[in-house]
Amino acid sequence: HHESRTPEPSTPTPSIRPRRLRTTPAMRNLVRETRLARSQLVLPVFVRDGQDAPRPISSLPGVVQHTLDSLCAEAERAASAGLGGMMLFGVPREEDKDAAGSAGARPDGILNRGLAAVRDAVGDDLVVMADTCLDEFTDHGHCGLLTEDGRVDNDATLEAYVALAVSQADAGAHVVGPSGMMDGQVRAIREGLDAAGHAEVAILAYAAKYASAFYGPFREAVGSSLQGDRRTYQQDPANRREGLREALLDLAEGADLVMVKPAGSYLDVLADVAAASDVPVAAYQVSGEYAMICAAAERGWIDRDAALAESLTCIVRAGADLVLSYAALEVPAVR
Ligand code: PBG
Repeated sequence: HHESRTPEPSTPTPSIRPRRLRTTPAMRNLVRETRLARSQLVLPVFVRDGQDAPRPISSLPGVVQHTLDSLCAEAERAASAGLGGMMLFGVPREEDKDAAGSAGARPDGILNRGLAAVRDAVGDDLVVMADTCLDEFTDHGHCGLLTEDGRVDNDATLEAYVALAVSQADAGAHVVGPSGMMDGQVRAIREGLDAAGHAEVAILAYAAKYASAFYGPFREAVGSSLQGDRRTYQQDPANRREGLREALLDLAEGADLVMVKPAGSYLDVLADVAAASDVPVAAYQVSGEYAMICAAAERGWIDRDAALAESLTCIVRAGADLVLSYAALEVPAVR
């Protein structure tokens, strides 16, 4: 049977061939735009009071709540692997929580003991960072102090953050990381540190921190008491411009480093902040991002190592100079 066929157009020979630069592993290595180095990675770690052995966190495979001893061993591992730093979170005993989160700033509070122990163990070989927030220490689980009617009281919280930051600097933190998203927290902490003789301690501002569903496993990791959510202080995930605004405010308040968090779903915000910032930019690959990769890999649905390497590389590609990740110790040294 007959069909009228239009003649095939002659296929043009491409004169420009991007594939030339993809031909061999050596060629791809040579032209790679983004390289992930261990020195730019920061490992978040949890230290828990009142236990004599490290405890696994079921929603974060491979991550544990440390004792002081296992924390120090982890710090030594991180230092010899060439990681850039460690971010410490404290998990107090339930009976040490109160409405003001006062166990946070006590010199014998678990986070401050952890900071001191880690500094003893690794000195200046790792950058030792402290989460500067009240949520792990409050019995209501919010990041700040509450008013009579249960709202988070911004300005009263600032004073508590200053006390917390100074106690962390006293304990040996090189960097404090205010993560509570109170207005004015960076300026207040800077002034407080300077007045306390800690002018050398740097501030890593959780500048653009979104009210994210991806923090789920973290709540288990710190035994959070939170009911409800943090939407009156953390940002609406729908807002891009506001992320840049928050970062610019923190820069104006004296932040030494600004962070975008979470990372993977917020690469547009990260790119905006990286383009505008005159200080190094950090990104936090949060618990849920890590856990999703672990869970899919456990089911055999994705390749764990490849997915971790890809996600971290893409966070750096988008503009992060440093990345906080629970997978920091799994990243191979660059060759
Ligand atoms: C608050 C804080 C949180 C995380 C880091 N700092 C929890 C929250 O804001 O609810 C989340 C980190 C993660 O999910 O890995 N101190």
